[in-house]
Amino acid sequence: MTHRFIPFLIALLGLSGTLRAQTPIYLHPDEAGEIIAPEIYGHFAEHLGRCIYGGIFVGEDSDIPNVRGFRTDVVEALRALQVPVLRWPGGCFADTYHWRDGIGPREDRPAIVNIHWGGVTEDNSFGTHEFLDFCELIGADPYINLNVGSGTVREASEWVEYVTASHKSPMTDLRRQNGREEPWDVKYWGIGNENWGCGGNMRPEYYTDLYRQFASYVRGPLYKIAGGPSSGDYNWMRVFMEGTQRQQWMVKGVSLHHYTLPYGWGKKVPATEFDEAGWARTLEQALEMDHLVTQHSAIMDQYDPEGRVHLIVDEWGTWYEVEAGTEPGFLYQQNTLRDALVAAVHLNIFNQHAERVKMANIAQMVNVLQAVVLTQEEEMVLTPTYYVFQMYQVHQGGRLLPVNLNSPRYTVGGEDLPALHASASMQGDTLHLTIANLDPNQAHPIDLRISDERFRQAHGRIITAPDMQAYNDFGQAEQVRLEDFSVPKPRKGSLSVSLPAKSVVHIALFP
Ligand code: AHR
Repeated sequence: MTHRFIPFLIALLGLSGTLRAQTPIYLHPDEAGEIIAPEIYGHFAEHLGRCIYGGIFVGEDSDIPNVRGFRTDVVEALRALQVPVLRWPGGCFADTYHWRDGIGPREDRPAIVNIHWGGVTEDNSFGTHEFLDFCELIGADPYINLNVGSGTVREASEWVEYVTASHKSPMTDLRRQNGREEPWDVKYWGIGNENWGCGGNMRPEYYTDLYRQFASYVRGPLYKIAGGPSSGDYNWMRVFMEGTQRQQWMVKGVSLHHYTLPYGWGKKVPATEFDEAGWARTLEQALEMDHLVTQHSAIMDQYDPEGRVHLIVDEWGTWYEVEAGTEPGFLYQQNTLRDALVAAVHLNIFNQHAERVKMANIAQMVNVLQAVVLTQEEEMVLTPTYYVFQMYQVHQGGRLLPVNLNSPRYTVGGEDLPALHASASMQGDTLHLTIANLDPNQAHPIDLRISDERFRQAHGRIITAPDMQAYNDFGQAEQVRLEDFSVPKPRKGSLSVSLPAKSVVHIALFP
């Protein structure tokens, strides 16, 4: 080869990423352990902005194609996502919600003001029956959040009875009168939401006592979830765990809420306009979830070493400035490739903590915050986050496999992050590795070293785009979606592949 070809060769190798050192990733399929609760892939839908009205429910008389008032396009998209569980009616809305307003003939239901979200009129046309019907349509388990902040113990216990009881009683008679003979099978019940804030501004001591009272009268074989801390409020977790240590039979889960805000609550930034510093800062904030889950789990371990009480991350996601021209209280934001990486990081973290984290719910399902689906009149788009949930479906119910990975670093400005972030599981004979390359500039070559030579086939899928700001918009071809990704067959337990910059990749290995 003459010297004239050398720069060309270097450029070619550089483009394919093969000049960088390969990162070995060790996987031992026989170490597969904890079951990854499918509910980690859960969602959250609140009476907020256009999540319920317009996004999920348009009413039977709408020109938008619908099934009993539920948008057909949205139902189909969500069915395809295999949503395991859906939390409702809030959020902050839950602690203002009086469930009797949302049952019976729609024309008789009172219109109220949604005090937290834009002060708009809530006509209560979507209530208990509609929510449970919607869950059946999309195949999700319902998770209902009771009102502690402004509701009574009686109101909460009667709602549970109305929904779940089969014996004859005033509540079951009322349900039958409203057209539902059989009870619904609703297992998950939340007792209050953010009771340190919009749910009553309580101290943890006071909430813990209230929890004990409400949980005493909310009866049945239910999975009761306490309103837990915000982000790093470890005191709330400690007080609650200590205050219920002798009543652990009445607590199945404690919630944790944490949002990804690149620059904090005081400086919300646009969802689609950002530079590399904004990219890195957001991902660094997303990685914070690992620290929070680790710290909260350590506190829970002190009071519950057997892991009977689960950590339920029932609100997580990015929170940006609302889109220009939209109502600030509606929290409507676009969703880019950056959000896809944020979702991948969170889902990897929840998988890694499968022992304690038994449910997580992205905020929110449609048209609010880090939504998986956006709608505009009769149009619908699937966001980059949607495709991450679709890619990660393979982990639902799988056995967590440790990923031994010493990641190269990605640094920019003051940020220093691991470039690669992964989780893995075994589903039967198939090994699933999901790995995000957080580095927006460099491909990173990896070498999978699997301690089992029986894996002879591989299949790959990828989510990426030329620009980190890429997003899917109405009336345009999709910029970000799930696509096939070519990976070689493993040979003698080894497989080398280069992970493109700013991508999320799934590699399935099977015999
Ligand atoms: O998801 C939006 C809001 O964020 C919820 O209503 C509340 O629980 C949280 O503060």
